[in-house]
Amino acid sequence: MTKIYTFTGTGYIGGSVLTRLLEHPNVNSFQITTLVRSPEKAEKLKSLGVNAVIGSLLELDKVEKLASEADVVFATVGMSIVLLR
Ligand SMILES: NC(=O)c1ccc[n+]([C@@H]2O[C@H](COP(=O)([O-])OP(=O)(O)OC[C@H]3O[C@@H](n4cnc5c(N)ncnc54)[C@H](OP(=O)(O)O)[C@@H]3O)[C@@H](O)[C@H]2O)c1
Repeated sequence: MTKIYTFTGTGYIGGSVLTRLLEHPNVNSFQITTLVRSPEKAEKLKSLGVNAVIGSLLELDKVEKLASEADVVFATVGMSIVLLR
């Protein structure tokens, strides 16, 4: 099982990455995790088989933990979002 973490699973780039991953022929060997702010969006992603963790990119401990546990990380949001907080 390949553990994949995308910083976000919504938005233009994050959603595009997630869509491609879910359409991938090897999707059954992926364990996909993403961070989501909205509980409603999290529920939709969970219905697609995505491990949607509720949280913000401003929670750096959470981001670091999710990234460190993954084999592959897609940084789908510029980290300026964090630096500008
Ligand atoms: N689109 C482009 O053509 C393009 C080109 C070059 C660079 N970029 C850069 O790529 C990045 C993503 O662009 P995009 O077009 O995908 O933007 P977008 O459609 O506005 O999506 C932004 C994503 O970031 C999430 N987000 C924002 N603040 C967050 C926070 N505090 N915690 C958790 N998630 C947060 C949003 O989640 P919610 O669903 O909760 O809002 C959404 O998933 C940006 O840094 C942008 O500058 C984009």
